[in-house]
Amino acid sequence: MLNITVQKTAAPKQKPADEKALGFGKLFTDHMFLMDYTAGQGWHDARIVPYGPLAMDPATSVFHYAQEIFEGMKAYRTAEGRVQLFRPDCNAQRFNDSADRMGMPPIPVEDFIQAVKALVDLERDWVPHSDGASLYIRPFCIATDISLGVHAAKSYLFAVICSPSGAYYAEGLDPVRIYVEDEYIRAAPGLTGFCKCGGNYAASIKAGEKAEELGFSQVLWLDGVEKKYVEEVGSMNIMFKIDGKIYTAACTGTVLPGVTRRSIIELLKDWGYEVIEGPLAVADVMKAADEGKLEEVFGTGTAAVISPVKELDWEGKAALIGDGKIGPLTQKLYDTLTGIQWGRLPDEKGWVVPVE
Ligand code: COI
Repeated sequence: MLNITVQKTAAPKQKPADEKALGFGKLFTDHMFLMDYTAGQGWHDARIVPYGPLAMDPATSVFHYAQEIFEGMKAYRTAEGRVQLFRPDCNAQRFNDSADRMGMPPIPVEDFIQAVKALVDLERDWVPHSDGASLYIRPFCIATDISLGVHAAKSYLFAVICSPSGAYYAEGLDPVRIYVEDEYIRAAPGLTGFCKCGGNYAASIKAGEKAEELGFSQVLWLDGVEKKYVEEVGSMNIMFKIDGKIYTAACTGTVLPGVTRRSIIELLKDWGYEVIEGPLAVADVMKAADEGKLEEVFGTGTAAVISPVKELDWEGKAALIGDGKIGPLTQKLYDTLTGIQWGRLPDEKGWVVPVE
């Protein structure tokens, strides 16, 4: 159990008057959680302090070799005014899986959750009230050694910041167009595809820019070896409903094991759907579209929630999905997941954790 000291801000910020205009990750709350790690001593100095810049030596190792990991979580306000988290233990476990791959120290799951809860509890007035908006929580960890040698650092900073946010995509729940990237790759076996590390996202930016210039919201990544099988969309996992069955890439090291992904798979199986986690060739997706069997496509992610896809473009060919509107299964999944998260539906699976 952490001993967290709290230093409150003397200058609280104005809360946003128009929650509809929040956007994603643009505005930050009054406080942040910080904790240091020193080899030989472990994690120490857990503290909540006023939100503000972190002063760092230019030789701090994270600036040079990107030893950095992060998580994405949300706090939701229910109609009764309760504030709750969604499966924070899954984020804590994934954080430690990322830490292990990146040569960084783990944080005990209960300490990670305690840190998040303590900060959200202090910032509970920042949790939005309007439908679809929530408090996005960004835990992250950076290497803080002052050294240019390439090796695992001996000191780290763990931080948690919070941002009241609306929809991740400007489209909201309107279906998005996705560009299938066939030049660059995001991951390959043995690399860090399953980690939430900043480097994965840095490497994706150029392809994302190219897709945006062409009028697409995001890039769909193919496997890094054959550039043949669909993997993920970078800011979300992706699922395909083909002829009544649901297909999604397996989490075998190159795909981020999404918390929303695993929750949606559980719901789908409960509802009797066959869910196939395995290789799905992009050519087969296009063929299914030609044959009228590509019924629905949707992304899943903490920030993106459930994001319907209306078009996939690969090698100059477009696959149009359904009638361009959100499909019935995608809508049911969105309603069920957000219903549980916002407390409108009973939490039969024990996924929700109150912040008290
Ligand atoms: C999340 O869904 O929380 C993520 O971290 C995706 C992010 C890159 C916006």
